[in-house]
Amino acid sequence: MRGRICGTGSYLPEKYYDNNDIAKIVETSDAWIRERTGIVRRHIASGDETTVSMAVEAGRRALENGHVLPEEIDMILVSTITPNAVIPGVAFQVQAALGADRAVCFDLSAACSGFVFAYQTAQAYIAAGLYQTILLIGSETLSAINNWEDRSSCILFGDGAGAAVVRAEEGELYPSVAGSDGTMGHVLACESRVQNDWQQKETDRKTYIDMDGTAVFKFAVRKMPEMAKSLMTQMHCTEADIDWFITHQANERIIEAIARRLKSDIAKFPMNIAECGNTSSASIPILLDEMNRSGQLKDGQKIIMAGFGAGLSWGAVYMEW
Ligand code: ACO
Repeated sequence: MRGRICGTGSYLPEKYYDNNDIAKIVETSDAWIRERTGIVRRHIASGDETTVSMAVEAGRRALENGHVLPEEIDMILVSTITPNAVIPGVAFQVQAALGADRAVCFDLSAACSGFVFAYQTAQAYIAAGLYQTILLIGSETLSAINNWEDRSSCILFGDGAGAAVVRAEEGELYPSVAGSDGTMGHVLACESRVQNDWQQKETDRKTYIDMDGTAVFKFAVRKMPEMAKSLMTQMHCTEADIDWFITHQANERIIEAIARRLKSDIAKFPMNIAECGNTSSASIPILLDEMNRSGQLKDGQKIIMAGFGAGLSWGAVYMEW
């Protein structure tokens, strides 16, 4: 058995900061951000919007889109690095809100690779015959851990959630690859969340995202093509056979560099980074949902979905729509 995506959903906060708004907070400009990243604006959670509320809405929309009832869900996996609380996990709160009483729930923390890792986890559960219907969600409130004094990182991140329902179908598992390198954890880190008073250390940058942008950039443009090539070899196909490379939306220049290394038409690399910025584990499912709802995804199309991020971590899967 293997899993197939039968429904997608997403949620983006109404409020956004465009590059000119960011230029009021740190010394930067619309031109610099567009040229170096491709980002024009990013959505920012406000009011009652949280990682949980966005996850619930994206999940609800995915269920509607896939014509799946909450009571049919066997498992809810939420990928997030910005949960509302340490416990209970976001997935449990999604379960309560959706009334998915039968579902087994847990959260998964692998930053921007998180949605791909959740998809691989779902495939493993389905292939093992344990579950048939799994709701996957990536939801992030990165604005809460952004260092709004660091112009090289705060320009990148946005908030939002994306979801997909995966259902069991007959057939062999498609290939997937993944990896981790804990020795490189320091290049993209966020060491602590707000502490109790008695634990309070001096407030320092480590409370927020701390990133060596150049190191992440180099890692991404090396690792992503490597993973895509490995999947194509396993599928005995070439770049020409792949319809879409749906990659984590971190930086337009990273995606362009990946396309060049694969000698592939950039048109096969859909992007929504201009509108959303980098939403970590939500970026791939938000993009997937946009493509699904706009009719870009057609039955039988061959897709490589790939993510990379903090950890360091990387993962990619082949699928047919
Ligand atoms: N506005 C204006 N100038 C800036 C800004 C800014 N927002 N940020 C940096 N600069 C300056 C720097 O200070 C530097 O100035 P200097 O030459 O006088 O020292 C100059 O611009 C060049 O800085 P670089 O860091 O070399 O700029 P680069 O072209 O590498 O772009 C960026 C920086 C956009 C961060 C890029 O490295 C990048 O996108 N890296 C990948 C980051 C990423 O994808 N992170 C997320 C990973 S996914 C996850 O797990 C969350």
